Amino acid sequence: MKPDISVTFTGLKFTNPFLLSSAPPTESDTNIMRAFDAGWGGVVTKTIGLHPVTNVAGPKTKFLRSTLDGKLSMQKKPDTALHSSWNWELISDKTLDWWVPKIEGIKKAHPDRMLIASIMAGSGSDTELAHWQTLAKACQDAGADAFELNLSCPHMDRKDMGSNIGKDQAQVSIVTEVVKEVAKIPVWCKLTPSTTDIVEEASAAFRGGADAIVSSNTFPSLPLIDPETMEFEVNVDGLVSSGGLGGPAILPQSLAKMASLTNAFPDKAFSGIGGIADFGLALNYFLLGCGTVQVCTAAMLDRAIGPNVIKALIEGLEQFMERRGYASPEDFRGLRRANVVANSKIRRPDGKEYHGGHEAEGYAN
Ligand SMILES: Cc1cc2nc3c(=O)[nH]c(=O)nc-3n(C[C@H](O)[C@H](O)[C@H](O)COP(=O)(O)O)c2cc1C
Repeated sequence: MKPDISVTFTGLKFTNPFLLSSAPPTESDTNIMRAFDAGWGGVVTKTIGLHPVTNVAGPKTKFLRSTLDGKLSMQKKPDTALHSSWNWELISDKTLDWWVPKIEGIKKAHPDRMLIASIMAGSGSDTELAHWQTLAKACQDAGADAFELNLSCPHMDRKDMGSNIGKDQAQVSIVTEVVKEVAKIPVWCKLTPSTTDIVEEASAAFRGGADAIVSSNTFPSLPLIDPETMEFEVNVDGLVSSGGLGGPAILPQSLAKMASLTNAFPDKAFSGIGGIADFGLALNYFLLGCGTVQVCTAAMLDRAIGPNVIKALIEGLEQFMERRGYASPEDFRGLRRANVVANSKIRRPDGKEYHGGHEAEGYAN
C-alpha cells in the first residue's frame, strides 16, 4: 500500500503537499485543470487585480543557463544547465469578471483539489483597500479555498502595490486585516524576500490575522549584459528595469528566509517556494518546517504545467516515506529547523588546532 501523502494545511486537506505557485502555469482555467489532472495537490492562481494590466513589448520571461565552465547566458547552447528564470511579467491581464466563472468551473470539475486565489490591490487609500475586499468576496463566492495576498511582486511601479507594500510592516498588517474582515476562508500572505529581516513583515502579517506565510517570491535582479553586443540580454529598445529571479539560483537564499521564519514562529503555517524541481530539493523546505511547497520555474520548463515534475515529486515523497517508515509528511516536518542557529553557536576548533586562518593560501578547494 502506498503511504498517505495528504496534508492538512491551514485547515484545508491537500491530496499532496505540492502546489503550482502563482505564475504563467496558473494563468488560465485550462492550465489549472491540466495541472490538477497531472496530480498537483493545489494551485495558486496567477495574481488577480482590478487595475488594467499591459505587459512590456517583448519577452516577459527568459531562462539563464550556465556552461560547465561557469559561463552564464540566456542564449540556448548545448551542454548547459539551468541557472535561473528572470521575468518582468505583471499580474494577470485578465479581469476579475473573466476569473470568477473560471474559478467556479475549476472547483466544479475538481472539488477535492485546493484552488487558492492570489489577489492584489493597492493600499494608498480607502478606495484601494476596498479593492482587496471586492477581489476577496468575488473569489470566495466563486468557490476559492483560500487567498494568497500578493505583497511581493518585485516590479510594480505603484508605490502602494506588490513588494512596495510588503516592505512596509504597517501596510502588511492593514491589508491582511482588511481581507480578514470579509474572509470566510484562510488568508495566506506571500511576502517579499527583499527586506532586511522578513521575520518583521511576517510578524506584521500575523498581527493582521494571517493564517500562513508564503516565501519566496522572486528576488530583484537584472538580466546580464551580452559582452558582444553590450546590450542587456532582455531589453525593449535597449532599456530594462529590475525584474525577478527564480529557479535553482534562489534556492539557498529562499531557504535562509524560510529558516528564519520557521524558527521565529515554530507553531505557524508556512508554504515554501524557490528553486524546487524535485523531491530532494522540496525536502529542504519540509525539514525546515513548511507544510506545503510551491513550484514555478521547473513547471514552466516542463510542458507549461509540470506533469513530469509533479510525478517525480509524488514518487519521491512516497519512496522517501516508505524507506524511512513515515506514516505522514507531518512526521518529518521541521526536523532540521533547530539546526539553524546563530554563528556564535557553531563549535570552534580547539585552541591548538586553530592557526588564525593564516596558513592556507586562497580558497581553491
Ligand atoms: C513569469 C513569472 C510570473 C510570475 N507571476 C507571479 C504572480 O503573478 N504572482 C505571484 O505571487 N508570483 C509570481 N511569480 C513568482 C512565482 O510564483 C514564484 O514565487 C517564484 O518564481 C519562485 O519560484 P521558482 O523558483 O519555483 O520559480 C512569477 C514568476 C515568474 C517566473
